[in-house]
Amino acid sequence: MKILGIETSCDETAAAILSNEGGRVSLLSNIVSSQIALHKDYGGVVPELASRRHLENLPVVLDEAYRQAGVAPKDLSAVAVTYGPGLVGCLYVGLQAAKVISWIHAIPLVGVNHLEAHLFSVFLETPAAEVPLPYLGLVASGGHTFLALVQGEGVYRVLGRTRDDAAGEAFDKAAKALGLQYPGGPALAAEADHGNAKLFTFPVARMKDRSADFSFSGLKTALANHLAAERAKGIEPNLADVAASFQEAVVASLIGHVTEALETTRAKAVVLGGGVAANRRLRQRLTETGNELGVKVFMPSKEHCTDNGAMIAMAGLIKHQRGDHAGLDLDVDTSPVLPLERSRT
Ligand code: KG4
Ligand code: ZN
Repeated sequence: MKILGIETSCDETAAAILSNEGGRVSLLSNIVSSQIALHKDYGGVVPELASRRHLENLPVVLDEAYRQAGVAPKDLSAVAVTYGPGLVGCLYVGLQAAKVISWIHAIPLVGVNHLEAHLFSVFLETPAAEVPLPYLGLVASGGHTFLALVQGEGVYRVLGRTRDDAAGEAFDKAAKALGLQYPGGPALAAEADHGNAKLFTFPVARMKDRSADFSFSGLKTALANHLAAERAKGIEPNLADVAASFQEAVVASLIGHVTEALETTRAKAVVLGGGVAANRRLRQRLTETGNELGVKVFMPSKEHCTDNGAMIAMAGLIKHQRGDHAGLDLDVDTSPVLPLERSRT
């Protein structure tokens, strides 16, 4: 069985081919073409430019994915594609391409939810059977941040989600305030690596109603106020120390929610996903938390945390195996929810 995964929801044009031979899953190719250079001058992704670039890049990325995998389109068992959430114009590029491939080669089309794919990216390295149910899924990306209790295949109870900025967005905005290059998350994390995280205390938001929702916008304001206050005193803040202290606050918020949820649910494990999952400090703190509480922690390799086609192919494989196929009338869906999401507690 060979599945092609296509991802074009934001600023990465990506395609990957995954094979499943008797339960042995292997990644045959995983091509990601980043648009960082295109959007750099704007300090963020420009949707119209992004969709046009996907249109130019996708045929090249697909050719390379087939070439590296040594697979011809006619050998595919199914084609999986992100249909949302994401930027509408961008999503359409991938979706239309997948529909054409499905139609020409008479193979099933599988629609993949981008958020669910971030959760499934861990299965690229860890067989699904090794992750005990129920588990907590924490997805922290540039556009979304949520914590869900995963009770079974595709059965989610969302415990909390961000009420304002996503964790990655907070990193990106803080990096901008610190004069660091786009994309800010990795740049801020690199600075933080040689800074003192204990030097400044930034607020870790907690909801008054004690819900597990996140909030990161106050943190961004606190950082801006801190920088302004220091500069008013004629002090140029040490970038590394501020970055480390800021990162610590974001990580503390994420870990705090996971710890509380582990106490209130019967979760047996934690699965991490999304671009922020590449953050070294978050990975370290989550591993420590898992060890302290006796709970297994599963994280994708860093290259599979940020957007890629492999996670789409993985989610596609799981859906394909249960016969969950889409028709050629599949449309984009930008709602930021998981499929079959249950109402929160
Ligand atoms: O999952 P992703 O590639 O795209 C979305 O679905 O949004 O996540 C991208 C986000 C960006 O905000 C980026 O700054 C952040 O992930 N990110 C990081 C790191 N690497 C990527 N944030 C903190 N530390 C990192 N090492
Ligand atoms: Zn993503």
